[in-house]
Amino acid sequence: MLSLRSLLLTALAVSAGVANAAECDEDFTIESDGDASELASCSKFEGTLTIGEKVTSVNLDGVERITGDFIVEGARALTNLAAPRLTTIDGKFNLRDLTVLGTLSCPELLKVGELDFQTLPALKELGFAKGISDAGTVRISDTMLTSLDGLKLSDVQNFNINNNKFLKSVNVELTSVSEALLINFNGKGVQAAFPQLKWASNITIQDAANISFPKLEKVNNSLSFTNNTFQQAHFPKLKTAGDFAMVSCIKLTNVSANALESVTGTFLLANNTKLEEVNQFKELADVAGSVDISGAITKVELPALDDVRGGLNVQSTEELDCDALNELEGSAVKGEYECKGKLEVAESTEGGASTQGDGSSSGDEAEEDDSNAAGTVAVNFGLIAALGALSIFML
Ligand SMILES: *[C@@H]1O[C@H](CO)[C@@H](O)[C@H](O)[C@H]1NC(C)=O
Ligand SMILES: *[C@@H]1O[C@H](CO)[C@@H](O)[C@H](O)[C@H]1NC(C)=O
Ligand SMILES: *[C@@H]1O[C@H](CO)[C@@H](O)[C@H](O)[C@H]1NC(C)=O
Ligand SMILES: *[C@@H]1O[C@H](CO)[C@@H](O)[C@H](O)[C@H]1NC(C)=O
Ligand SMILES: *[C@@H]1O[C@H](CO)[C@@H](O)[C@H](O)[C@H]1NC(C)=O
Ligand SMILES: *[C@@H]1O[C@H](CO)[C@@H](O)[C@H](O)[C@H]1NC(C)=O
Repeated sequence: MLSLRSLLLTALAVSAGVANAAECDEDFTIESDGDASELASCSKFEGTLTIGEKVTSVNLDGVERITGDFIVEGARALTNLAAPRLTTIDGKFNLRDLTVLGTLSCPELLKVGELDFQTLPALKELGFAKGISDAGTVRISDTMLTSLDGLKLSDVQNFNINNNKFLKSVNVELTSVSEALLINFNGKGVQAAFPQLKWASNITIQDAANISFPKLEKVNNSLSFTNNTFQQAHFPKLKTAGDFAMVSCIKLTNVSANALESVTGTFLLANNTKLEEVNQFKELADVAGSVDISGAITKVELPALDDVRGGLNVQSTEELDCDALNELEGSAVKGEYECKGKLEVAESTEGGASTQGDGSSSGDEAEEDDSNAAGTVAVNFGLIAALGALSIFML
């Protein structure tokens, strides 16, 4: 079938006298700067387009849609990449290991199956003038970007922004993240604002100087903040979370989630050295795991708490009144109970365990596999479409 198809297509190409142009429905690699012009007539390119390592500059004029992946990897001399008409990449848009790529220009790009940018040490701007409004997964790692202007996404599966040392702000109008939202190891003091975010499966944030989640209602799995420098953390609309964890946020003085009713995992506050009062969780009633609060805490008030299926551990180095909490021992609290003040060391029983494992920067395998799978599916769709078109043609 395949050989018959290529035979047929070659015959067609030769008879049409366009032997100099690339096929628009076969995978293609641009090996040198001039090769890009071979695609000029392919407004829809059905296949995977790759840029070879020797290319220094690409202008992909003419191509509006790539149904497979667009892969640019290891082209160490590539300084600029322009795709002035490209609106859609159905598969993966992968830029990786491009040492001198300083200019990326995809002004019309709206939709990408998956955006995966890694190790782009000269890239300061995304160059998506219209803004990408549709992408399944976004991973941006190890770039010079100072902002994420150009991402206008609403619903994504994964949003992973890590190791971008110059990034000052992440402000994206996401409304949902069905898998993980991960912001870590970027510039110290990144501002992470998600003004429209209503729910996410997981949220992990590190090294942020301020955060904003004004509309967040639900986090299915874990909501985790470690090693941040924000002073305030407010979750005014949050009703349920899997884990709720704040660890080693050394400037935190004020944390609130006054609509939070249930935590289906662990409620953990540990090593937030300036946090004194835990009294703004006014509706928190059910915790399926344990409650674990430690630090220089002077006040803990959880007035609605009536069902903790795990233990409750409250340890403070300061004077702490445990009277109200003591009433929960053996009734609301099903597991081990401890509340103590004036300790030399205030220890956390969970030890921040629920916040471990999210710290890896880029190459986590599971995600890698997922993305590859998605890319493959997109390519196969292209192939199936091509074969379908061919069989109609042959009838
Ligand atoms: C979400 O968090 C849970 C529990 O913390 C973890 O087991 C799971 O792997 C995370 N999922 C993703 C997609 O990161
Ligand atoms: C975050 O901090 C910066 C500078 O400290 C401030 O200008 C900005 O308004 C803050 N943003 C939020 C959402 O609090
Ligand atoms: C997470 O919560 C959202 C919003 O309630 C829901 O639509 C989604 O199905 C949930 N996802 C999982 C994996 O439970
Ligand atoms: C507590 O936080 C400080 C400052 O971030 C950090 O150096 C230390 O390792 C943390 N301790 C624990 C037990 O997590
Ligand atoms: C904590 O922040 C809330 C909301 O911004 C504010 O109303 C409250 O006064 C703050 N509390 C303290 C002790 O700073
Ligand atoms: C937080 O910072 C401490 C001290 O710098 C470090 O040991 C720890 O690994 C960091 N935690 C995470 C989750 O990165």
